[in-house]
Amino acid sequence: MTSHNPHSLLSTEQSTGSTDACEKTSFVFLRQELPVRLANIMKEINFLPDKLLGTPSLRLLTSWYSQSLLELVEFLEEDPQDKRVLTKFAEALVTVRNRHNDVVPTMAQGVVEYKEAFGVDPVTIQNVQYFLDRFYMSRISTRMLMNQHTLIFDGAVNPAHPKHIGSIDPCCDVAEVVKDALSTPLHLVYVPSHLYHMLFELFKNAMRATVETHEDSLTLPPVKVRVALGSEDLLSQMSDRGGGVPLRKIEALFSYMYSTAPSPVNTDCSRNAPLAGFGYGLPISRLYAKYFQGDLQLYSMEGHGTSAVIYLKALSSESVERLPVFNKSALRHYQTTTEADDWCMPSKEPRNMGK
Ligand SMILES: Nc1ncnc2c1ncn2[C@@H]1O[C@H](COP(=O)(O)OP(=O)(O)O)[C@@H](O)[C@H]1O
Ligand SMILES: [Mg+2]
Repeated sequence: MTSHNPHSLLSTEQSTGSTDACEKTSFVFLRQELPVRLANIMKEINFLPDKLLGTPSLRLLTSWYSQSLLELVEFLEEDPQDKRVLTKFAEALVTVRNRHNDVVPTMAQGVVEYKEAFGVDPVTIQNVQYFLDRFYMSRISTRMLMNQHTLIFDGAVNPAHPKHIGSIDPCCDVAEVVKDALSTPLHLVYVPSHLYHMLFELFKNAMRATVETHEDSLTLPPVKVRVALGSEDLLSQMSDRGGGVPLRKIEALFSYMYSTAPSPVNTDCSRNAPLAGFGYGLPISRLYAKYFQGDLQLYSMEGHGTSAVIYLKALSSESVERLPVFNKSALRHYQTTTEADDWCMPSKEPRNMGK
């Protein structure tokens, strides 16, 4: 049970429900696919450094994964024709989803604990970054699948959004989500909650940068959003005049271990606290964009401001899930040791070259 089945969730055919998208079919797909995705990522969790795995947060988190995997594989033996099985499965999905609500802050807390107790070296930072991108992407995908199933088959139509198919809006009004005045509406098939998450994080960052660099002035320069639709890309550009970031630091901003906001101490994980100061806004937003084959990039002019661009696929047929797979190449990433840099670093130039 190792191979993934990436789903083209947004392709118009499926999202309009014209195919045989009955509950039984979905059940048979998910009872296999969800355990595959969980098992794959659990294999990778096991390759984390022992000291990180040993933190209370990680112990708790891994227990959630084992429990959920056990609960889901039980359905492999059940009869899809039995209506009660389908009801039980939908309930199990809700239980699993709720159990995993706090995975992001709990994992973040574990990483913070580890960092404080043992410090970090470049190799660890690199490995943790590699792992977390895959781990959170896996989580985005499993939650997407579970949400789709429970929303579509609970029999109720969302009164606020009668046209939504689960969490997918076949006619997602980007401007409406951006809350920006636009004369021509642009539509695509997308998941509004994912778009909302990305825009919300970018707004928070842009506004914080603006406020911090203009502390002493009476007026604040606006944060501007532009949306453009091409034949391939739909992009949304958010520009602030918050002083910008030097090029050298841009890559680091996407690190799970980088933030200039005060670190949240003893965050109460039981509440859905907004993730500020963990440094997770940009990396997780980029994963949401990449999940359906898009991207998120920052262009900054130090001394002036920053533009953050979200790229999405304009065509739903190209919005296929992007998923981590656990295989030999993945394994190699967890086994890297410190290797010599293959680019020359001026500060590390050997002094005694003449010898
Ligand atoms: N628009 C921006 N202008 C200036 N700095 C930014 C901007 N967006 C992000 N940053 C920098 O990137 C860091 C990481 O951002 P993010 O991933 O959202 O985490 P957090 O906001 O929790 O620190 C911020 O702490 C900030 O220093
Ligand atoms: Mg942020």
